[in-house]
This record gives sequence, structure tokens and C-alpha cells, in this order.
Amino acid sequence: VRRITVPQIAARKGGEPIVSLTSYHSHTAAIVDKYADFILVGDSLGMVMHGLETTIGVTIDMMIAHGKAVVRGTERALVVVDMPFGSYEESPSVAFRNAAHIMKETGCGAVKLEGGSRMAETIHFLTERGIPVMGHIGLTPQSVHVMGGFKTQGRSENDWEHHLKDARDVAEAGAFSLVVEGMVEPLAAAVTKEVHIPTIGIGASSVCDGQILVLEDMLGLNPKPPKFVKVYGSLGEQIEDAVKNYAEEVKSRAFPGEGQVYR
Ligand code: KIV
Ligand code: NA
Repeated sequence: VRRITVPQIAARKGGEPIVSLTSYHSHTAAIVDKYADFILVGDSLGMVMHGLETTIGVTIDMMIAHGKAVVRGTERALVVVDMPFGSYEESPSVAFRNAAHIMKETGCGAVKLEGGSRMAETIHFLTERGIPVMGHIGLTPQSVHVMGGFKTQGRSENDWEHHLKDARDVAEAGAFSLVVEGMVEPLAAAVTKEVHIPTIGIGASSVCDGQILVLEDMLGLNPKPPKFVKVYGSLGEQIEDAVKNYAEEVKSRAFPGEGQVYR
């Protein structure tokens, strides 16, 4: 395997922080590939690429289309593809069938699925049969309608035990790492200490074993990024400037100019 492998990611527990971003698209993934240990083709693509309000409407075919693009555009990072809502919850065998389909079609190296203790049996079933699984606990966006919104987890210490149990059960089931999303720092620290696999934080402070952000959020393409996003670029403004210049030059016939014309 020429890419960073699942065991290499798993071995990073407590070591140098794991670097990760999402990608949905070949050309941007090629850039991320130079710096990330793994790239997540997240179901957040439903919002970012397809204008959905939540991730509920994302389909297996959408994940496959973007997963393929990202695998083709990269060579170094491990590519992890999200299992979309409805493709794995029903039973371990349904989850296996859909995860295998996603792996075969995209060439990704692992899948990610949301849920703690309730998904442990499925995580075990998949990993035993050759499909590496990344867990995802805390704020799990596919459960938005049960949670009644996107809420930071662990504000009350009463909730901590169930998050710690989720983390333990996912790790014991064989997941190779665990996304912890939207958690107060002390809970993220307790979860990270609780499990032998690396935790990947998003909105969960720097105590985790690695970090992930949605690429478009950190590039400045999201007009209203969540609080936990640090915006490292201003792509929104740059794209607008470029489109505006283009529109003006088309109208004034400055474009196409000498350099763009076949004589
Ligand atoms: O879909 C997604 O982008 C995710 C995150 C962990 C960023 O699941
Ligand atoms: Na996701």
C-alpha cells in the first residue's frame, strides 16, 4: 500500500497530532493530500456541494461520486468515506453490503459511521471482515432531528458517562480512530484518555490526538462558519473578485485578449 495506512493512523495515539481535512473534489484533494494524514470525504458534502440543509438527504451514490474523485486526485493520504444516513444503521449485514460497495467503487481505505455503543456490533462486524471503520461520537449530525439541533455535548457532567461508554464501546469494537465532534474540552480530554485509539477533534479543543475541519469552512467559503472553525483563507472573497472581474471584462470585450485568441 503506497498510501498512509490504517495501522499507521492507529499508531499515532498520543504522538504527533494527526492532520486531516475533508475533500469532495479532485483538484482541492490533490492540494490537501500534500499535508494531510487522512482525507475525509464527509457527508457534509450534502450541504457544501449540493445545498442540502442537513446530511440526512445524502445518498450512497453521492458519496461514491465524490469519493472516486478524491481517490483519483490523491496518492498519499488515507481516504476515508462517510457512510450516509440510512446506509448502515439497520443491521451489520446491510452496513457491510453498503460499506463494501463504497470501498469497491471508490477505492477508499476506510469508512466512517456515526454512533457510539449502538453501532459497536456493526463496527465489529465490518472490521472483522476487512473494512476499517472510523467512529464518530459526540455531536452526530445525522441525528439532528433526535437531538433537536446541533448542540455542543458535555455541558452537563451528567452526560459524560454515556459519551465515555460510547468511546469505549467503539474502540473495543475495533474502530481504528474516533472523530469526537462538538464537545466541551474537559469531556474531549476524558474521552481521549479513555480509549487506546486516536481521537480526531472537530469543535473538541486541542486535547485530541488529531484535528479535522471541513475544507471549505477553513478556506473562507462558508459565510457563517461555526465557532470552532478557524478561517485560514479568504476563498469566498477571492472567487467573488475573480468572477466580478471576468464579468466586467466580458462586457468591455477585454476578455478574450491577445493571449487567449487563436490566429
Ligand atoms: O462530514 C463531515 O465533514 C464530518 C466531519 C468529521 C468533519 O463528518
Ligand atoms: Na460526516
